Formats: sequence, C-alpha cells, structure tokens
Amino acid sequence: MTAVTIKRVVRETPDIYTLYLPAVTGAHPGQYVMVWIPGIDEVPMSLSTIGSPSSITVRVVGDATRALSQLGKGDKVGVRGPFGNSYTLKGRRPLLVGGGTGIASLAPLAEEMAAKGVKPTLLIGAHSRDQLLFKDRLSRLLGPRLMVSTDDGSEGYHGYASNYTAELMAKTKFDHAYVCGPEIMAAKIWAEAERLGVPVQASLERLCKCAVGLCGSCAIGPYRVCRDGPVFNSAKLREVVADFGKRRMDASGRMIRVDH
Ligand SMILES: Cc1cc2nc3c(=O)[nH]c(=O)nc-3n(C[C@H](O)[C@H](O)[C@H](O)COP(=O)(O)OP(=O)(O)OC[C@H]3O[C@@H](n4cnc5c(N)ncnc54)[C@H](O)[C@@H]3O)c2cc1C
Ligand code: FES
Repeated sequence: MTAVTIKRVVRETPDIYTLYLPAVTGAHPGQYVMVWIPGIDEVPMSLSTIGSPSSITVRVVGDATRALSQLGKGDKVGVRGPFGNSYTLKGRRPLLVGGGTGIASLAPLAEEMAAKGVKPTLLIGAHSRDQLLFKDRLSRLLGPRLMVSTDDGSEGYHGYASNYTAELMAKTKFDHAYVCGPEIMAAKIWAEAERLGVPVQASLERLCKCAVGLCGSCAIGPYRVCRDGPVFNSAKLREVVADFGKRRMDASGRMIRVDH
C-alpha cells in the first residue's frame, strides 16, 4: 500500500466526486484500486482517469464513500493496485453503455479507443439529468456519438438505459458491446446482445476485501471478481448465468438478490 496525497477533488453531481491522485502506474481501462481511508475502511474503486494524475470517481452510498467524498486537496489515502483484468479492445463499431458510476470505468476505455482511431458510440444512463456523469468530457471526445438516457426523461431518451440500448442495437449493427453499471442493467443488455450475437464485455461489482483472490467475498460461480474480473466476456458470463443479474453475497456471507 502506498500513502498518496489527494491533488484535487471535483464535485461531478450532487453525490458523485472525482478525487485526483498521483499516477497509478501500469494501469489499463477497466482496472481498479483498493483505497484505504484511515480509521474507516478499504474499498475498491475503478480508475476513472488513467495517467498522471490518475483519478477515482466515487458515489456516496455508505461510510467509506461518504468519508472519501469529504476529503480534499492535501488529504492522504492509502492506495493498492492496480488490480484485476482490463477491457480488451475489440471491434471497429463498438457500443459502450455506462449506468451511474459505471461510466467511470468506461471513460478511459473510450479515450483509449479514440486514440487508436476507433470512435465508439457511448450511452450514459442515469436516473435524472443532474446525475449524468462525464457528459462534457465525453461529448468533447465523441460529439454526436454520445447518447444520453434518463429514467425520468429530464434529458435524452426517456427510460432505462437497457431499453435504449436494445433500440440502438436494433438500428445499428454494433460488433462489440461494453457495459458497466447496475447489474440488472448489464444483465438485460447482455441478454439482448446474446440474442443478436454481439459479444459483450461487462464489468461486475462484488464485495471486494483482499483484492487478490484469497478471501472469497467476491466469488461468482467458479471465479473471483477481484482477480478474474472485474471484466467478464460473454463466454465467462454464460458460465456465471446462475448469479449474474440475480444474486450476490453480502458482507455477512448471505446471498442477496440484485435483480431489482
Ligand atoms: C471492481 C469494483 C469497482 C468499483 N468501482 C466503483 C467506482 O468507480 N465508483 C463507485 O462509486 N463505486 C465503485 N465500486 C463500489 C464501491 O466499492 C462500493 O460502493 C463501496 O465499497 C461502498 O462502501 P461504503 O462503506 O461507502 O458503503 P457500504 O456501507 O459498504 O455499502 C453501501 C451499500 O452498497 C452495497 N455495496 C457495497 N459494496 C458493493 C459492491 N462491491 N458491489 C455491490 N454492492 C456493494 C452494500 O451492500 C450496501 O447496500 C466498485 C466496486 C468494485 C468491486
Ligand atoms: S476480494 Fe478476496 S477473493 Fe476477491
């Protein structure tokens, strides 16, 4: 673990904050770091910027994420990583779909694709307009290829990102889909992509404690999300279909549903 000093904090939405950190070296889009907040907890966070500085983008959901959101320039956190696998660049006409903070792990992927001459179509989904993450950053990169959906219709397509994705996939022949966000959204998009024969890479979230495949808290089927994921391709998603979009382990080891 390395103790690092926060360089800058940006409030992105009412409850999402980006913390800029010194470069996390050797990282690729889709990977995550374990961030330790002294006296509180250590939590996994995707890298939302890769390079110098690097960044994490945090939605406040509990004690650790609230504590992170209250830190500022000059405060210190502990960082381990990068961990996990990364997205594999595939296809000439990819579709990227990020729901909520899921866009944090997809934004660096879109930037890497654009740097390599592939302009993806990217859909940002959120509950409402004020929750849309990285819209300006991605609009500068992708122009009209950036799509937006909001559940309440306050901006862009009115409805769930999974429904809009199905409409987009019916109109345009994408040759690969990348998904990160609420698991129910990812599972619906995967099911539609399977029907159309479009390969998928989906980034999954499970409770991560050790991050190195030892404790088992992040198990899904035969895999450990922390080490074998977080990115699962279609072949691996087929193997974990009993759990994907349906259930996960909570902090006490009980299986709880995620299909809502
Ligand atoms: C690989 C990976 C990358 C992640 N990247 C990001 C990111 O970029 N930005 C971000 O805001 N969050 C991300 N998360 C989720 C983040 O780690 C959790 O929200 C955080 O650990 C919650 O800690 P807490 O103490 O604030 O809340 P807690 O009190 O621990 O949890 C609050 C609620 O969130 C649920 N929860 C906690 N952790 C997870 C999890 N891993 N999967 C599903 N549900 C969970 C709990 O069951 C509870 O209902 C990522 C998780 C993983 C595994
Ligand atoms: S977090 Fe311990 S095995 Fe994955």
